[in-house]
Amino acid sequence: MTAADLVVVANRLPVDLERHPDGSTTWRRSPGGLVTALEPTLRAREGAWVGWPGVPDAEVEPFAEDGLSLFPVMLTAQEVTDYYEGFSNGTLWPLYHDVVAPPQFHRHWWRAYTAVNQRFAEEVAKVAAQGATVWVQDYQLQLVPGKLRELRPDLRIGFFLHIPFPPVELFRQLPWRTRIMEGLLGADLVGFHTDGGVRNFHWLAQELAGASPDRDPEVLHHGGRRIRLGAFPISIDSHRLDELARTPEVEKRAAEIRTELGSPEKIVLGVDRLDYTKGIDVRLRAFHELLEEERVSVDDAVMIQLATPSRERVEHYQQMRADIEQAVGRINGEFARVGHPAVHYLHRSLPREELAAFFLAADVMLVTPLRDGMNLVAKEYVACRPDDGGCLVLSEFAGAAIELTSALLVNPHDTDGVKEALYAALTMNAEEGRKRMRTLRRQVLDHDVDRWATGFLEALGIRVEQ
Ligand code: ADP
Ligand code: F6P
Repeated sequence: MTAADLVVVANRLPVDLERHPDGSTTWRRSPGGLVTALEPTLRAREGAWVGWPGVPDAEVEPFAEDGLSLFPVMLTAQEVTDYYEGFSNGTLWPLYHDVVAPPQFHRHWWRAYTAVNQRFAEEVAKVAAQGATVWVQDYQLQLVPGKLRELRPDLRIGFFLHIPFPPVELFRQLPWRTRIMEGLLGADLVGFHTDGGVRNFHWLAQELAGASPDRDPEVLHHGGRRIRLGAFPISIDSHRLDELARTPEVEKRAAEIRTELGSPEKIVLGVDRLDYTKGIDVRLRAFHELLEEERVSVDDAVMIQLATPSRERVEHYQQMRADIEQAVGRINGEFARVGHPAVHYLHRSLPREELAAFFLAADVMLVTPLRDGMNLVAKEYVACRPDDGGCLVLSEFAGAAIELTSALLVNPHDTDGVKEALYAALTMNAEEGRKRMRTLRRQVLDHDVDRWATGFLEALGIRVEQ
């Protein structure tokens, strides 16, 4: 394959390799919001994508797929344990999500993180054309900008963080804080979802890595270079989802879902990767209490929780899954009738069309993360409501809350507040609901993922053809 002018590098490829018991292999779409956002963007620009194929010890040759060139990076089983499950998801993930679970600091995890970041940088250095643009993604690869600049000073390097950048007091806990900061400062542009991330980074880069400020609060100087910072709230392919939700197939499936549920008056929905940051327990508790207080009955309202399996070998995830499944069992034990569960729980990933039908069917969408960089599910729900129906209950601690101010905003740490917002959503008059949804839809349809990608690439100095 020829050298590429635009290279995205992310921990995962947009597709994961699946190994079957008979020895055969297939590819399936990777989980999470990063792939949802970047895949349409990069396909449209015919770029290259460097990433891990999602299973250990997979030596896969580069291949082309529908306008995209994919370059797999091999990780050993030990590296998956130490770099991916360990440092990325046992140290950085909880630390950057306001320590909602305690982060663990292990030197052998850090060593694996630096070795794997070095390998990713070397792969990109091979794939990128002279003077190419490289867009590094997310917390798993924070050392790549610095390492890549050493290998290929000709490249233009952007970095985007898909999760929150933490408050300074939390980041300073990290024993390797200066190394991470220097790794990120290897980029020409460092992007975050929110202005809060920009401010935290601006302060820490000076404090830890000796970067110098500029008159422009979104510029730093370091190592004789100028580094731009910026807030770029990520989004979705909103027009495509809007169109999908208008198709007769999706409309029919949404009606079927309601019938299959026993035609309840209200359907309450949650859709998440099964992650302890998502506050799935919070919404189950709120629904449970409304049933206990007899303000809601299983004849009026049914809850559905769709949960994509995620990071299943990490201890906090195993514990959380057990807790959630116990809570679902408990609610159903107390309130279900034969053939009428109060909560339907599906631990699996669904196809896009099916997901769109669930969004279209849901009268109330509960998005209650304790902390979330953006939360694309909230935007997907809005995009799937061309009928202006439905009501979004959204955590203040999701990045999306900055833009989606017409949702019912809640503090997920306040169970009474979540409960009252859920009740308000269930009993909201149709005109107010439609008014809120119309405002939300204007925001989501105007600010789609292409606008996000174009904004980032232009800030990086790339002229983008429209
Ligand atoms: P994160 O990146 O932390 O996973 P986001 O909300 O930003 O969170 O993105 C999650 C993505 O995964 C969305 O595109 C959403 O539609 C998708 N997703 C979540 N749960 C499911 C599911 N059960 N089936 C299919 N897709 C899912
Ligand atoms: O930004 C959130 C994120 O960690 C992405 O980097 C990733 O694609 C997604 O969530 C899913 O997580 P994982 O790759 O660990 O399954």
